[in-house]
Amino acid sequence: MKYNDIRKTFLDFFESKGHKIVPSASLIPNDPTLLFTVAGMVPWKGILQGTEPAFAPRVADVQKCIRAGGKHNDLDEVGFDGRHHTFFEMLGNWSFGDYFKACAIEMSWELLTDVLKLDPARLRVTTHVSDDESTEIWRRVAGKEAIRLGDKDNWWSAGDTGPCGPCTEIFYDFGADIENEDDRWVEIWNDVFMQYDRDANGNLTPLPQQNVDTGAGLERWAALLQGKIDNYDTDLFSNLINAIQDVTGVKKTLENTSSFKVIADHLRAVGFAIADGVIPSNTDRGYVIRRILRRAMRHGQMLGHRGALLSKLYPALITEMGAAYPELAREEKRVVEIIQNEENAFADMLQNGIKLLDVEIPKVQNGILPGAVAFKLFDTYGFPLDLTQMILREKNIDVDVDAFEREMAEQKERSRANTKGTRTLWESQTQLPATDDVTKYSPDDAMESKVLSILRDGEFVQSANPGDNIEVALDKTNFYGTQGGQVGDSGELISDGKTVMTVTEAARVDNIVIHKGTLAAPLSIGDTVQTKINTATRQQTARAHTATHLLQAALRHVLNEDVEQRGSKVSPDSVRFDFSFGRAMTADEKQAVEDLVNKWISADMPVSHEEMSLDDAKKRGAMALFGEKYGDTVKVITAGDVSCELCGGTHVYHTGEIIHARVNKEKSISSGIRRITMSVGTLAE
Ligand code: ALA
Repeated sequence: MKYNDIRKTFLDFFESKGHKIVPSASLIPNDPTLLFTVAGMVPWKGILQGTEPAFAPRVADVQKCIRAGGKHNDLDEVGFDGRHHTFFEMLGNWSFGDYFKACAIEMSWELLTDVLKLDPARLRVTTHVSDDESTEIWRRVAGKEAIRLGDKDNWWSAGDTGPCGPCTEIFYDFGADIENEDDRWVEIWNDVFMQYDRDANGNLTPLPQQNVDTGAGLERWAALLQGKIDNYDTDLFSNLINAIQDVTGVKKTLENTSSFKVIADHLRAVGFAIADGVIPSNTDRGYVIRRILRRAMRHGQMLGHRGALLSKLYPALITEMGAAYPELAREEKRVVEIIQNEENAFADMLQNGIKLLDVEIPKVQNGILPGAVAFKLFDTYGFPLDLTQMILREKNIDVDVDAFEREMAEQKERSRANTKGTRTLWESQTQLPATDDVTKYSPDDAMESKVLSILRDGEFVQSANPGDNIEVALDKTNFYGTQGGQVGDSGELISDGKTVMTVTEAARVDNIVIHKGTLAAPLSIGDTVQTKINTATRQQTARAHTATHLLQAALRHVLNEDVEQRGSKVSPDSVRFDFSFGRAMTADEKQAVEDLVNKWISADMPVSHEEMSLDDAKKRGAMALFGEKYGDTVKVITAGDVSCELCGGTHVYHTGEIIHARVNKEKSISSGIRRITMSVGTLAE
C-alpha cells in the first residue's frame, strides 16, 4: 500500500465505526507546557481532562507531530536507524467518555488483521503490570498473552502534568533473522487508556470520564505494508531521497545513508513547522527549528554540497505531501524565503566553523573538546551545541558541556551589563541623522547604506570583528525599529552578497534606528552595506498589527464604545492587547469578538495607508492612543469601514492577508485593565 493511501484506509475504517474524522491540528500547540504537538492527543488535552466539552464521542485523525527539543525528543536518533523521525504523522482514534478498553483493543486488532491482513503470528502485545483487564481482553480477542511491563514502557502522558494512563502496545516482528531486538520488534500502535490527571506534585486524580487515546506511526505502517524494514526505504522517503540526490548531485551509498535520512527527515520537520508559523530564532521552538535546519546543512556539507539545500528541496516535499496538507503549497513563497534567509546566514559560518574545528580536533586531549571552543563555535559561527556534539560524535570526542555553559552564563551577564546603558550612549550621538523615517515602509526588501556608528561593549569603536555583539547606526535604513508596541524588524546587513551581520532586532532611540546583532565578518565605520529585512517576518508582523486594529474595533462592538487601548505588543506570531474594561469577558463575548474579527478578515476589506495632518485625521474620526503625542503629519490606517486609527506601524493591504485570528486568553492585569492575547495567520488556523 502506498504511503499516501494509508491515511484513507485508517480513516475510512474508523469512520465506519462511527468516528468523526477531523483534519490535523497545527504543529504549534495551544499549550504552554509543550514546544510542539508531540502526539495526536495534544489538541484534545482539554477534552481528555474534562475542562473542554467533547465535540463528538468518537474522533479519528492523522496528526502532524514533531518530537524534538522537549520531553519527547527523537532528534538524536534520526539517521542512525530506520524508525526515528523528528517529524512524523500519527494515526489516532479517540473515545471521549464513550468506548473503553475492550472496544479499543477489538478495533485495533480488526484493522490490523482483517483489513490490513497482517499475519497475527507476527504481532505481539504488552500491557501495564497493573492492567489485568486489558491482559484478559487480549486473551479473549486475539488469543495473545500480553507481556506485562512497568511505567517506563506502558504508562503514557504528553507532558509532566495532565491526562495520563496505562497503555497497551502492539509490536510487529520483522523477522528472526534480524539480530538487533529493537530493529526486530517495532512498536506499531499504542492504545492509551486515559483515566487520570497528574498534577505538578505527581498526584493522580481519576478523570471525570474514561477515555481512549491511540497513536500509530504512519511511517512505520508504510514500512511493514511495503515489506520494508527501514521507514526510509518506503515510497515517500525514496522519492525525497531521489530529490536530495538531484539537488546535491551525490548518489546514496551505504556510507552516506545517514546523511540522506537526516536531510529527508529534517526537510519535513523544517518545512511543516515553518508552514505552520514557526520562525527560526534563538529561543524556544524557533531555536529547535533553527538547530534542525543547521544540522541538515551540515549533512549536506558532508555530502560535499554547499549553500542552499532545504529551500531547494521544499518543492519535492510539496509534490509528496501537498495533496494531504494544502498549507505546504499555500505557504510556499513564505516558507522558502524564510529557509533561504536562514541558509544564507549560516552557509559561510558553517564553512568557517568547520575550519576552526579542523584546527582544534587534533589538539583534543582525553577525548574532550574544551567548553571555550564549543562556545566560540556557538557564539561566532552559530553552531548550536548539539551540532558540535554531533560532528564530534563521529570522532568519539565529547564536549565539556559544564564549561560551555559557564561561558554562556558569563556572556549573558556581560551583555546584560552592556545593554543597560546603551540608550543614554546613543542619545549622546547628536551628529547622527534621523533614520526612523518613511523608508521603513519601503516595499523593497533591501537598500544600500553607510555605517556611521558602531557600539561594542559600551564603547563606540571604529571597527568590530566576527563574533562581536554590536549595535550599528546607518545613514539610512528600511528596518522598522521597535516602537508603538510593534517589535522591530530582523534581517541582515550584507556586503558583496555575504552576510556581515545578523540583525536580531532593530530598536529605536529617539529618531535613530539601531541595528542590534552579531557580526559574521569584520565591519568598520564608512563601510557600505545592504540592509536586508526579513520580509517573511515583516509580513507576519503586519498581519498581527492590522489584526490588532480589528480586535480593538471588535471589542468596542461587542463590549462597548468606551473600551480604550492601554498598551499593546505586536510580534510576528502573537498580539498582546491591553484595554480598559471593568470585568472579565464571558466565553460568549470572547467568541463573539473572535468571530467578528474573522468575519472582517474573510470579507477581505481593503486597508488604506494615508498621510494627513493631525486635524484632518481627527475630522476623519481616527482613533488615537490615550496619552500619546503625535506630530503634525500622521499616518492613518483604515480597514474597510470598521477601523480608522492613527498608527505608525506596518500593515497589510487587505484584511484577507491576515488569514485567521484566534483569541487565546483574556485576563486582568490591574484594576480596570484587561489583557487579551491573540494569534494570527496560519498559526491561528
Ligand atoms: N498518545 C499516545 C502516543 O503518542 C498514543 O503514543
